[in-house]
Amino acid sequence: MKYDTVLLKGDEDGINRAAKLLAEGELVAIPTETVYGLAANALNREAVRRIFESKGRPQDNPLIVHISDIRELKPLVEDIPENAVKLAQKYWPGPLTMIFRRSSLVPEEVSAGLDTVAIRMPSHPVAREIISRAGVPLAAPSANRSGSPSPTTAAHVMEDMMGRIPAVVDGGESSVGVESTVLDLTRDEPRLLRPGGITPEQIRAVTGSLVIDKAVTGKLEEGAVAASPGMKYKHYAPKARVILVKGSADAFTSFVNSQKGEGVAAMCFDGEEKGLSVPFVTYGKRADSAEQAHRVFDALRRLDEIEAKLVYCACPEPEGIGLAVYNRLLRSAGFEVINLDE
Ligand code: TXA
Ligand code: MG
Repeated sequence: MKYDTVLLKGDEDGINRAAKLLAEGELVAIPTETVYGLAANALNREAVRRIFESKGRPQDNPLIVHISDIRELKPLVEDIPENAVKLAQKYWPGPLTMIFRRSSLVPEEVSAGLDTVAIRMPSHPVAREIISRAGVPLAAPSANRSGSPSPTTAAHVMEDMMGRIPAVVDGGESSVGVESTVLDLTRDEPRLLRPGGITPEQIRAVTGSLVIDKAVTGKLEEGAVAASPGMKYKHYAPKARVILVKGSADAFTSFVNSQKGEGVAAMCFDGEEKGLSVPFVTYGKRADSAEQAHRVFDALRRLDEIEAKLVYCACPEPEGIGLAVYNRLLRSAGFEVINLDE
């Protein structure tokens, strides 16, 4: 263990200490409304390199740059398309990341060699204060070890990063619970690379058109180039093998009970656990996608606590923010899906 990781409060003192560490080129995990981020000065190559090291992140997976004021955008990008102006007015600060052409100010380490850069303005007041007091834009991936479920509490971050970074700032539970929507604005038409807190409907309301990248609901074909490199890895996974199961509550219960055995567990909707004869965790009501988003990553972590080996997970409705929940669970499951309706 290299560091004696301190847990800072999201108060005046904690925010100041975090901002000071960041300005000095250190890594600090900070709360955001989506998930916790592992932040470093985006303009400091050495600090950015250490993000990859401490997460065990593949070198070719670019980072998101976080700003606290719209005036910080211009120096980071080559140009600002009209759609970006409109989307920023409506959804910033908030869970929307936009991809721009990268300016020479942004080190290529941030973008893993791409000529674009991802930018987001978070709405969490603690995140915004830390960025603003650090006085620099902050590169921050989710603050989990690469491959694990994203952290939505400071305790989750401690589980993964204790001893690896100097400090974690506690800003409570992340309200959205899944990562930001990633939207590429560098092409002819806006393209959704990762679904998140801002839904396709909300984007279309501003841009008119939106292309949903195939990687959002499908598996990248062997040898294909990922528009968003992060979407190609197995991700968000507990130690157990996860299989997504489509079907009604009753069909799910009888199927899972028929599979009962050592290490078999279920991840199901609230209120649908009654007839189950295996250990389970729940992640919100079937009809409440926002609640599912808020709880999905914590539920995946709890599967490790109950020492599940094989998990059957009730498949969410891929509508609205449910598309983001479905996208994350599909990756936790390595794209293994059973359809009981067929
Ligand atoms: O909500 C969030 O976005 C959180 C919080 C901390 O802000 N951050 C986050 O970062 O989820 P990360 O690194 O776990 O995911 C970033 C995603 C990856 O899928 C990455 O491939 C994609 O954004 N990305 C980053 N820069 C990109 C670029 N220039 N072009 C395409 N995709 C990019
Ligand atoms: Mg991540």
